[in-house]
Amino acid sequence: MAQEHREQWGSRTGFLLAAIGSAVGLGNIWRFPYIAYENGGGAFLVPYLVALLTAGIPLLIMEYTIGHRFRGSAPASFRRLSRPTEALGWWQVAISFVIAVYYGAIVAWGLCYAWFSLRQTWGDDPEAFLYEDFLQVAAAPGGITNYVPGVLWPLVGVWVLVLIVMVLGVRRGIEWANRIFIPLLAVLFTILVVQALFLEGAAVGLDALFAPDWSAITDGSVWVAAYGQIFFSLSIGFGIMITYASYLRRRSDLTGSAMVAGFANSSFEILAGIGVFATLGFMAVASGIPVDEVATSGIGLAFVAFPQIISSLPFGAGLFGVLFFVSLVIAGLTSLISIVQVVVSAVQDRLGMRRVPAALLVGGVIAAVSIALFPTDQGIYLLDAADHFINQYGIVLAGLASVIVVAWVVRRLPMLEAHAAKTSVVALTWWWRITLSVITPVVLGFMMYDSLRAELAQNYEDYPTWFLLTAGWGVAGAALVLGILISLIPWKNLPSEAADADGDGPGAGTAAAGETERGR
Ligand code: ALA
Repeated sequence: MAQEHREQWGSRTGFLLAAIGSAVGLGNIWRFPYIAYENGGGAFLVPYLVALLTAGIPLLIMEYTIGHRFRGSAPASFRRLSRPTEALGWWQVAISFVIAVYYGAIVAWGLCYAWFSLRQTWGDDPEAFLYEDFLQVAAAPGGITNYVPGVLWPLVGVWVLVLIVMVLGVRRGIEWANRIFIPLLAVLFTILVVQALFLEGAAVGLDALFAPDWSAITDGSVWVAAYGQIFFSLSIGFGIMITYASYLRRRSDLTGSAMVAGFANSSFEILAGIGVFATLGFMAVASGIPVDEVATSGIGLAFVAFPQIISSLPFGAGLFGVLFFVSLVIAGLTSLISIVQVVVSAVQDRLGMRRVPAALLVGGVIAAVSIALFPTDQGIYLLDAADHFINQYGIVLAGLASVIVVAWVVRRLPMLEAHAAKTSVVALTWWWRITLSVITPVVLGFMMYDSLRAELAQNYEDYPTWFLLTAGWGVAGAALVLGILISLIPWKNLPSEAADADGDGPGAGTAAAGETERGR
């Protein structure tokens, strides 16, 4: 088979836009504002910034450096780091697979709601419209009995778009999609925030969001919330940043890029907080209810509260709705693309496939599972359970395992630090090693303990145990088991220790081999 050369980003800006596109997602728009509000408002910014500096950016740097140093998908890079750690990479691939199948469904709902906004199709009762008319949700979790065409076709559209981007590849597909979408998102969302700030009651909402409750700083759960938010929002622990950094040129500023991506993501998060709470302030004042009763997050915020608000806007309702939902779709789409790429690149490396067949095969399988499960009367239950468990016991646990393994088991932090120092402008110091080997494992370990305790005390959302054991624990557990099993199958086409062009690691001196292995 003719060899395909390893793909590369066209420029550093292209890589940065893709990394920011991956980080800025639903988590920024519908999760951050409420988490900040619930956990001390303005005072939350202190633990949030500490989490960004002590876990977010250090972990981003670690993932960028692993990807850049070992130039492979998550499993290939971990394998090259140390053979037994390959399972970590496959675990992340399985996690990304699960997230991709339901993340696509939310993007499809956003697409429909952008259209509905024009005529406020949801009528007087957006909640009933969402669950009964639009999603046609069954009364309880159980077997699928009904297909919902209103969700099916937009979902097919989303997957066709994602597949086209995947087939076009890293530079012509992912980079170009982000070059168009990220500036567009910044413009649309800024217009939305300005419109929100002119609403009556905006100041009330902003007051509620930013009024600092300093007592929150002494509350452990607030710190856990801050680290959790940073983790999800920066797309750490999915294998995404390893994959994206593996397409960087040899001479790339890793630490500087991590800082730019980290701060850009947080800036967008704060902008989203301002937009969402200015709008909630309007709703509170217009309906005479306190902000704490209208504030919410997730599906309830985007698909119930916002439609309600849009319908009652004094001017520009259609525009406001389109701006909000199109922003949600763009933010979701650029994250979704990065999540799917984790799986595509892993399969490409593992089976020695070319990009186009790998993209069609992997994208096709993910799309088929997504289309089979989510446009159904059980879709929202499956989504809710999978999302909760794969986040808590997938991403966070895989992130925790990867720092412990890299820092304490295979002890590769000094080697990664030396690699980052060669190409980066901002040098790493002992501080980077301390944050990764001590602070991050302690905080994430405590997070894990805390959420397991709550989980075991009561069934999540009071769902039946059989349902949680399959769609929740089952899915998260299967990702781990599958990760380990796949890593046990021997590779024929990838040497266990890879080459590095910089010549500072195992296999040094065979850089060309490192490049062509992946291209096969
Ligand atoms: N980082 C992405 C988000 O915030 C996954 O939704």
